[in-house]
Amino acid sequence: MSTAEFHELEIASVRAQSDVAVSLSFLVPEALIESYRFVPGQYLTLRATIDGQDVRRSYSICSALPKAVIKQSRGEQTAESMLLEVGIKSVPGGLFSNYAMGLVAGDKVQVMTPQGRFTAAIGGRHRYLLLAVGSGITPCLSIARSVLEGEPESQITLVYGNRTSSTMMFKDDIHALKDRYIERFRLLNIMSAEQQEAVLLNGRIDQEKINALTDQNVLAPQKYDACYICGPQQMMEQTSAALEAQGVDKERIHIELFVTDATRVPPPAQSTPPGPESGIAVTVMIDGVERLISVDPATDTVLSAAQRAGLDLPFSCAGGMCCTCRCKVKAGTTAMDMNYSLAEWEIEAGYTLACQTRPVDSPVVLDFDAT
Ligand code: FES
Repeated sequence: MSTAEFHELEIASVRAQSDVAVSLSFLVPEALIESYRFVPGQYLTLRATIDGQDVRRSYSICSALPKAVIKQSRGEQTAESMLLEVGIKSVPGGLFSNYAMGLVAGDKVQVMTPQGRFTAAIGGRHRYLLLAVGSGITPCLSIARSVLEGEPESQITLVYGNRTSSTMMFKDDIHALKDRYIERFRLLNIMSAEQQEAVLLNGRIDQEKINALTDQNVLAPQKYDACYICGPQQMMEQTSAALEAQGVDKERIHIELFVTDATRVPPPAQSTPPGPESGIAVTVMIDGVERLISVDPATDTVLSAAQRAGLDLPFSCAGGMCCTCRCKVKAGTTAMDMNYSLAEWEIEAGYTLACQTRPVDSPVVLDFDAT
C-alpha cells in the first residue's frame, strides 16, 4: 500500500451515470504519477470541507490500468498520462455524495493516493468471476477493463445486480466492453424491479441466485481462479458462502465492504476532551516523528484522540472497513472495537486499526510507518 497522502487534483471531466450518480475523472500531473499508480480494485479517498466539517469519503477507481503501465510490464516503454475516474452515487442526506453532484470540470479536490487491498494484479491467464451490486460495480469495472486489456487470454464473467436498467451505473461503458471483448467477457444483468425475458436473471444476487445459476450451468464456480464480490454486506456474505459451498477455496474469494454515506459510522465527537487523569499515554510514530497523546479508552479511539490533539493521522471510513489507518502495536496492549479489513495474519503480526483501537495498558506505542 502506498503512503497515504493528499494532493489537490483537478477534475478533468464529469459524466452522468444515472439520475443519481456521476463519475469524476481526475487529472494526475506528471510529477504525481508515481504516487497515484494503482492496482485495479483500489480506491481514492476524497476530502472536502462541507458546512465547516472535514469530510472524507472513499470511492473505488473504475479506470483501467493506464496503458503505459501495462506496456511496461511487457517490457515496452511509452510516454504516459494518467486520468483516474471514480463513480459516486448520491444517497439521501449524504454529505459528500450530494456535494459531489455539484462538482464540475476544473474544480479542484483533495485526493488521497490509492489505497485498498481488494485488488487484482494484472498478468498471466485467468478466469475471473465478478459479482457487483449497484455502485459496487466501480472496482469490478476497473478489474474487468484492466484484465481484458492486460491479460489477452483471460476471461471474465460479470454478474451485475441493479433494480432496473435505468439505475445501472456505467451501462454504456460495460456494453462497449462487451462488444469489444465479446469472446472473453460475459455479462449477466440481474434486475430486481424490471422483468427480463430469462426468468433466471430476475431477482437479487444472493445465495439462491448463485446456486440457481450454477445448477443451470450458467456459472461454474470451481473453474474460477479468482472471485471478486462488491456490494451490500448481506449480499457479500450470502454469495461468498454460496461459492464456498460450491467448492471455491476461501483464498480465491475477495470481498470489498461497501462504505457509503448511508452506511457510514458517525465521526467521533469533538466537543468534550477527556480529563488528563483518565487517559492512557500513547506514543504515535508517523513519518519518522514521535508524538505523545492521551487516550481515554472509555470515550476515545486512538484516531479520535489524535484528532483532538491536532494530529493528522491517515484515515478514511473511520469504521474499520478500509484499512487506511493501519498501524503496528510496538509496545503495550490494545483492543479493537471492530475489524472488517485486517487479515488474521496481520492481527497476529501486531497490526491494528487506529480508528477502532483503544489502549488497554500503558505504555502503548503505535507505528504508522511499519509496512
Ligand atoms: S479509517 Fe478505515 S479502517 Fe480505519
